[in-house]
Amino acid sequence: MDKQSLLHSGYLNETLRSWQSNCGELTPNNLMYPVFIIEDDNGIEPIKSMPGISRYGLNQLKTHLDSLIGKGLKSILVFGVVEGLPKDAIGSNADNSNNPVIKALPKLRSWFPNLTIACDVCLCPYTDHGHCGVLYPDGTINNLASIKRIAEVALSYAQAGAHIVAPSDMMDGRIGAIKDLLIKNDLGNKTAVLSYAVKFSSSFYGPFRDAANSKPAFGDRRCYQLPTNSSGLAHRAAERDVREGADMLMVKPGLAYLDLVQSVKKAHPHHPMFIYQVSGEYSMIYHAASNGVFDLKVALTEILTSMRRAGADVIITYYTPIILDWLLVKS
Ligand code: PBG
Ligand code: ZN
Repeated sequence: MDKQSLLHSGYLNETLRSWQSNCGELTPNNLMYPVFIIEDDNGIEPIKSMPGISRYGLNQLKTHLDSLIGKGLKSILVFGVVEGLPKDAIGSNADNSNNPVIKALPKLRSWFPNLTIACDVCLCPYTDHGHCGVLYPDGTINNLASIKRIAEVALSYAQAGAHIVAPSDMMDGRIGAIKDLLIKNDLGNKTAVLSYAVKFSSSFYGPFRDAANSKPAFGDRRCYQLPTNSSGLAHRAAERDVREGADMLMVKPGLAYLDLVQSVKKAHPHHPMFIYQVSGEYSMIYHAASNGVFDLKVALTEILTSMRRAGADVIITYYTPIILDWLLVKS
């Protein structure tokens, strides 16, 4: 055998294998935890389609986060869920003073001064039609009205205390519209914009739409979320959002799109790259593990490592609580 054919000799034990690593370790800094906030401050509602995950009222969330911060939690991604507040054509309650996110932000900031808080910005949880933008009477997207409204919502979250606003709507030009409005209101230097730049139309969002009460009433989101078959559009979307001033980029969903995590990170090496392990991925892994397909810890560790190897700096995952436990045991 050719001497160059010998690979085993380079990874014969745990230490040698660690020397072969081409990616950074996974630490609490690399995790962002998505949370759903409901109107009833004392409520806690398990999400059926996401076993082990609940929607929290503010007081319940406080207790939940208290323990996670003790284990190293650094950042969260907040989603509002409404049942009592009415929905309308423009999502008026996305940034109303009664909105659960608007109400939660100042309290979360004062309770947890070292926690970084990102807010998902979209209209779909608050519109009666369930789409992510404002519509023309014929049901198509009115892009200009949409980005104007989305920028207003982003500004409201920033003013209420969000460190990061994260528009997930996929309207054209929203990053620029948000940045302009933040600058106009003297928040340009104080609020980061995390763009869901490379967000695909995906069957993996099913459980989330349940959780956030945000299913479209008609049609689908294929006219604004990206088509799975296109890496070209993914790159154009990332380039555009960088040009418009995005501070950070995201690829979503995660596992089926690692090629784009790698190539978009390579194209924009100076922008932190986020990957969103979405609701359907969470539930798929959960059900596989509970049915004996694999061990949860072993399989999830493999997936998270692959995400880091592809180039993800931050992984947004509903598994954050259990991963923090594992990291504690390791350290
Ligand atoms: C809404 C939004 C979605 C997710 C994040 N923000 C759903 C969608 O676009 O249909 C998905 C998150 C998940 O599935 O975990 N704009
Ligand atoms: Zn939406």
